[in-house]
Amino acid sequence: MDVAIIFESMTGTTERAAFLIADELFRRGIASRVFPTNAVDADYVAGADLVIIGTWVDGLIALGQRPGRKGKLVALPRLDGKPTAVFCTYAVNPGKVLQKMERLVGELGGTSLGGMAFHRKRLDPAVRDFTGRVIAARAEATASA
Ligand SMILES: Cc1cc2nc3c(=O)[nH]c(=O)nc-3n(C[C@H](O)[C@H](O)[C@H](O)COP(=O)(O)O)c2cc1C
Repeated sequence: MDVAIIFESMTGTTERAAFLIADELFRRGIASRVFPTNAVDADYVAGADLVIIGTWVDGLIALGQRPGRKGKLVALPRLDGKPTAVFCTYAVNPGKVLQKMERLVGELGGTSLGGMAFHRKRLDPAVRDFTGRVIAARAEATASA
C-alpha cells in the first residue's frame, strides 16, 4: 500500500505531524511519501491507495476557524475515488476545520474517511491513534467496495 501525505504548514507543527504519520505508517510496514502543498507529485497521488491531507487552524482563536491557506488545498490534484483522511493542528480550538476539510476532499472527488484534530503540544499519541484509525477505515472501505 502506498500513502500520499500532503501538508500545509506555516511554523512547522503540521509538517512535524505529517512526518510522524509517515513514521507510524513505516512502523506498520506501510510505504508513504510526504509532500508540502506546493510540491505535490500528482502521479504519486494518482497511484496512491490512500491520501492524508493536513493543515493548521487559522482564525480568531475560538471564532471563524478555517483551514490554513485553504487556497493551496483547493488547488491540490483531483482525488477522484481516493480514500482520503484529513487532520489539522491547532492551539486552542479547531472549530469546524475538519468538517470544512472533509467538504474540500469531496469537492476534489475524494471519498472521506474522516479526520482528527491534533493539539499542537500533544501530537504523538494522537498521531498513533489517527494512523491506526485511518488504516482501519481504509480497510473497511475497501472491503465494502
Ligand atoms: C494567523 C494564525 C491564526 C490562528 N488561529 C487559530 C485559531 O483560530 N484557533 C486555534 O486553535 N489555533 C489557531 N492558530 C494556531 C495554529 O493553528 C497552530 O499553532 C498550528 O499548530 C500551527 O501549525 P503550523 O506550525 O503547521 O503552521 C493560529 C495560528 C496563526 C499563525
